[in-house]
Amino acid sequence: MTVHPSSTIEIPETGSIPQHVAIVMDGNGRWAKQRMLPRVAGHKRGVDAVRRTVQACCELGVKHLTLFAFSSENWRRPADEVSLLMRLFIRVLRRDVESMHRENIRLKIIGDVSAFEPELQAAIHSAQALTASNTGLCLNVAANYGGRWDIIQATQKMLASQPALAKSPELIQESDLAPHLCLSESPEPDLFIRTGGEQRVSNFLLWQLAYTEFYFTPKFWPDFGLDMLNEAIASYNQRERRFGRTSEQLSVPPELRLSS
Ligand code: IPE
Ligand code: IPE
Ligand code: MG
Repeated sequence: MTVHPSSTIEIPETGSIPQHVAIVMDGNGRWAKQRMLPRVAGHKRGVDAVRRTVQACCELGVKHLTLFAFSSENWRRPADEVSLLMRLFIRVLRRDVESMHRENIRLKIIGDVSAFEPELQAAIHSAQALTASNTGLCLNVAANYGGRWDIIQATQKMLASQPALAKSPELIQESDLAPHLCLSESPEPDLFIRTGGEQRVSNFLLWQLAYTEFYFTPKFWPDFGLDMLNEAIASYNQRERRFGRTSEQLSVPPELRLSS
């Protein structure tokens, strides 16, 4: 397993194409409402946007894509919307897994999948197993995911595997916790995108977004695709990623920097 450096410990390499894009796919309900359609119609059209975005990432050379599909707080929605989302999730997993496999995509579901009905858990397990050794795009889909849950479950795993740390908590370092977080196999996101106009994180990747660049668009998720991804990347390329350093330090070529 590749261990990716933590942005707070080692300054990561950055390029014009983000290695890892994380997206809060928001605005399906409002997209539908504008068209006098039921909310589920927005979720269905949202699936087409997922397919376009996956394709766009493959074309652009983005290596990791993490999509927020269902938060740990989305159970608070009306029961019929939750159950329609679960049915849709099962259907898409079954229908798209073969083509994802052909495209060499590795699918990983992050979140507490134990809360899902057995049928959905089975579809998740078989899709992950089929694509596990693929080497193309790493597609992480966050389902029943919460950033706080992720940190708690990682802490539990860390203490179970290193019980001595419970007795000497002053010894705990980032590198003890990080391997147990859900996205330990991906570098930290370079670019966070949220559609739908809200400017908040909604309990997405709280740990991993430490030095991520944020991009918000008022457009609704069902309208997302290559053009909007390119707009987000163009904005990302305007940013100066300092990771705590000064702007002046960045204008010095790396080989002449006193410390980096
Ligand atoms: C995002 O769209 C999809 C999920 C949270 C499952 P919403 O359903 O939140 O759409 P809006 O925000 O109500 O428009
Ligand atoms: C965030 O969207 C979760 C997903 C996109 C899956 P929400 O629509 O649930 O977020 P809030 O409630 O507006 O913060
Ligand atoms: Mg929403």
